[in-house]
Amino acid sequence: MALSGATWNPTSWRSYPAAQQPEWPDAAELENRCKELAALPPLVFAGEARRLTSALGRAAQGRAFLLQAGDCAESFAEFSADSIRDKLRVILQMAVVLTYGAGVPVVKVGRIAGQFAKPRSSATETVGGVELAAFRGHIVNHEAPDAVARTPDPSRLLTAYHQAASTLNLLRAFTTGGFADLSEVHTWNREFVARSPQGRRYDAIAEEITRALRFMEATGIDLAREATLHQVELWTSHEALLLPWEEALTRRDSLTGNWYDCSAHLLWLGERTRQPKGAHVEFLSGIHNPIAVKIGPTTTPAQAVELADRLDPEHVPGRLTLVSRMGAQKVSDTLGPVVEAVRSSGHPVLWTCDPMHGNTFVADNGLKTRRFDDVLGELAAYFAVHRQLGTWPGGVHVELTGDDVTECLGGGRSLSEDELPLRYTTTCDPRLNASQSLDLAFNVAEMLRTLPAG
Ligand code: PEP
Ligand code: CO
Repeated sequence: MALSGATWNPTSWRSYPAAQQPEWPDAAELENRCKELAALPPLVFAGEARRLTSALGRAAQGRAFLLQAGDCAESFAEFSADSIRDKLRVILQMAVVLTYGAGVPVVKVGRIAGQFAKPRSSATETVGGVELAAFRGHIVNHEAPDAVARTPDPSRLLTAYHQAASTLNLLRAFTTGGFADLSEVHTWNREFVARSPQGRRYDAIAEEITRALRFMEATGIDLAREATLHQVELWTSHEALLLPWEEALTRRDSLTGNWYDCSAHLLWLGERTRQPKGAHVEFLSGIHNPIAVKIGPTTTPAQAVELADRLDPEHVPGRLTLVSRMGAQKVSDTLGPVVEAVRSSGHPVLWTCDPMHGNTFVADNGLKTRRFDDVLGELAAYFAVHRQLGTWPGGVHVELTGDDVTECLGGGRSLSEDELPLRYTTTCDPRLNASQSLDLAFNVAEMLRTLPAG
């Protein structure tokens, strides 16, 4: 697959305008840290990225569904085995609900093990009359509102690498070492989730799965030999925002000679960095990983096609995922013409829906939040657009945590604005808590079930 122009190389993005880059105080120190990174082992392998492209290709053809989920911004401070396990647990639960409820294979991709860098709507922020550089994620600076904490620090690139490496190591252990075994399906329900209506609904599914497994065993099927019952594949992804970091982790595959960004299996571009003539699109055009681009409400059909031409010139199923994030009020009007234009262009893209980022607002108490009803509303409208066009609404992309946080309003336990400050721990955007995530999975399973048979 020859994706890139003759001039592409891992540094060619440097001659294009790069949006959303921090102002590093010492360019030489940044380059030195990147050299150190470039000498470290890859976090993922090219062969894995190719397998994910195939899995996403099946989703693009309507034969699977993508669940992409995890933190808005991973934190250097809240980094523990428990939080990684709990995030994995809720993703596994959602996948069970979707697979069981809708009967489709689910491709599981975490916003995890590298999701550190954040785009900001403004490069600075004024706190107590003092103008400070914006917080851009722990890979760049610290969120404390003082000038020293906010100064971009290149040594953070290495901390991010090591945190990503140990997160990935633990995920590989959990997904292959027994934790994700389907016979453990009951144990993924956490205490505070089990008490909620969706927790009880989940338990009923877990019971049916356990009975089905016992039945198969009783008929003489040797379950121990069925690897898919005992292991899952959880792929990693993050926004490819901080280009020096991505460049340093980009390696040439010895098998194919192609370039892969070995910082994660899948890389995506955000709504603020998808300019067709910008550095981010240039960088993504030459790596052979599966990639995704967020598509917001101002995207014209022609722009979406231009992006697809640039990023998927060879029309490879699974290569390009387009993530609709229009906002609950806008999606019905804006998405249809874009999907139609991309379909007519012949690019076999995978469509997925991020029902979070178009629905953020600031509550009266100053906390950023989202209404669970808006999230469901955007998903319902997204499904309706695809139903009308006869295209496959191939996935969902959400920000969540396994903890009992109070960041999004509504959901099963009807979280109110007064309750937001109770356990509001995100360093960036508001995330669904574990019961809201499960609630969302049940709703999406229902939407999938009622799609006309394809
Ligand atoms: C994100 O995914 O955290 C994000 C910033 O999204 P978007 O680029 O769609 O605003
Ligand atoms: Co976010």
